[in-house]
Amino acid sequence: MVNAEKQIWKCFGCAKGGDIFSFVQEMEGIDFIEALKLLAERAGVKIDSYRSEIDKSQKNRILEINQKAAYFFHHVLLEMSASAGAREYLSNRGLKKETIDQWQIGFIPDQWDLLTQYFLKKGVGVDDLIAAGLTIKKDAARAGQGFYDRFRGRIMFPIWDVHGSVVGFTGRVLVETEHSGGKYVNTPQTVAYDKSRVLYGLNNAKTEIKAQDIAVVVEGQMDVVACHQAGMKNVVASSGTALTLEQIKLLKRYSPNVAMAFDGDKAGVAAAKRGIDIALSEGLNVRAISIPEGAGKDADECLKKNPQVWFESVKKASDVMDWFFQMAFNNKDVSGPKAKQQVADELMPLIGLIPYAVERDYWLQQLGGRLGVEVSVLRDDIKRFSKDKKESNQIDKRPEVAKAAPLDTVERLLQRLLMIWSTHPEYLSVQWPKFDNRCFEGSVYQHLYEIIKNQYTNNSPVSVADWQNFFITNDQAGEFENLKMLAAIEPGETEDSDLKIEGLEIMVRLQDEWSKKKRKQIQFLLAQAEKSADKELAQKLFVELQNI
Ligand code: UTP
Ligand code: MN
Repeated sequence: MVNAEKQIWKCFGCAKGGDIFSFVQEMEGIDFIEALKLLAERAGVKIDSYRSEIDKSQKNRILEINQKAAYFFHHVLLEMSASAGAREYLSNRGLKKETIDQWQIGFIPDQWDLLTQYFLKKGVGVDDLIAAGLTIKKDAARAGQGFYDRFRGRIMFPIWDVHGSVVGFTGRVLVETEHSGGKYVNTPQTVAYDKSRVLYGLNNAKTEIKAQDIAVVVEGQMDVVACHQAGMKNVVASSGTALTLEQIKLLKRYSPNVAMAFDGDKAGVAAAKRGIDIALSEGLNVRAISIPEGAGKDADECLKKNPQVWFESVKKASDVMDWFFQMAFNNKDVSGPKAKQQVADELMPLIGLIPYAVERDYWLQQLGGRLGVEVSVLRDDIKRFSKDKKESNQIDKRPEVAKAAPLDTVERLLQRLLMIWSTHPEYLSVQWPKFDNRCFEGSVYQHLYEIIKNQYTNNSPVSVADWQNFFITNDQAGEFENLKMLAAIEPGETEDSDLKIEGLEIMVRLQDEWSKKKRKQIQFLLAQAEKSADKELAQKLFVELQNI
């Protein structure tokens, strides 16, 4: 590789139409775009703008595929005889036809590649199907070539984002067998689907969450669907995992109140704990819904057994802090100091999460009262746990002050250099030979520079009075006066004699800043060359890059 690399750069050196890209393509067995990226990377330039554009258009294609897939699954469920079992299953679970329609619930029979074949026949590319997470490429090690469906023999639930685009799916197994895999199979992470940013049902629930000023968070798809069918429409699902920060922020847009239902046992709490912590520290009012013993393990079951009990449980949901208090004290004897400390250790970190001082203090008083501990002791101690979230939030949310575009460093340095030269032409003889005149290319001062160059090379040495004349005859008198004025206003901290040294220092910095600027420009152009697969342009840009 080291050798090949050397050779690559040698190729650049001569670059007489020698095609560096073909060379790298061949050496590395990659295509033009990949070769371009590789070479750019080696030259210390990152191209990603085009990729993100590809991703954007790929995302759109995936969303379109998903929408069609949802339609396909739904129609398969409703129309095909192979779906009779699935229809019966859903009806046994109490889902009405309107509900199935509203949530576009579907089915896919247990076959290898029904959906993949359907799309391939429609002319959809297999790469997009794989990127959508619907199709899986057969393991090369396994016999045979080809592709198969991720979802097979499953009841299909489309997952929408808040705007109503189908971003992914979750499929519940219809008949559990040894080979059916997990009870639920989900779309993997794709360009369109990030499970940590989606709440199932939010598209249908958001209006009602706002209207009722509270969101009910349940665990599963079936729970959401059953709740909505029962008329409780402010319900979304976390899809079986703890809520993430993104999901909580999403909810916060509609209401600061959430009521969460989770399996009441220790495992259920532990699983939800992280989500609760985040919700508390985001300042949400979190309530815990507990379904009474024997009334069902989740919303769906409870609704089926006795809808009244579910509605009651939601209404009675208590502040999650009360709930944690209950768990921590749990009929414990807290007369001894060890037991007191234990309970405090459990609750203090939670109280510390609350970003509001008054609310925090309320819980400290509760804790102090129940433990028989001076609240001032707890107030002191809570500082260990509470980051003043509120304050840091405000800092985060400060609107960005519109800043004036900062003066380009290169232009600033050039201006300073011209200032020195126009007031002290005697330094030109020292500074000029050390100057990389490419720095003026494309500068607003290019014209001025050309005049100086002409006069200096033809009439050296020059005086300030000469300059005046040259600039007047070249229509640049105004510019020249500007520079002189700037020199007067901004003499720098230096003695006049130090301008000679300053000029030299500026040139070193200029070289550095100019090459940085140039690299950035080339990087931008390379991205364009990649976009249009313009080999010739890319080649030219690489040679330029080499010469910086
Ligand atoms: P549950 O196992 O509690 O299932 O998982 P459920 O929602 O009650 O489903 P039914 O009533 O048996 O049909 C809760 C949620 O966790 C996710 C699903 O979103 C499910 O709804 N989950 C569960 C998975 O993603 N994968 C799994 O293997 C299991
Ligand atoms: Mn269930």
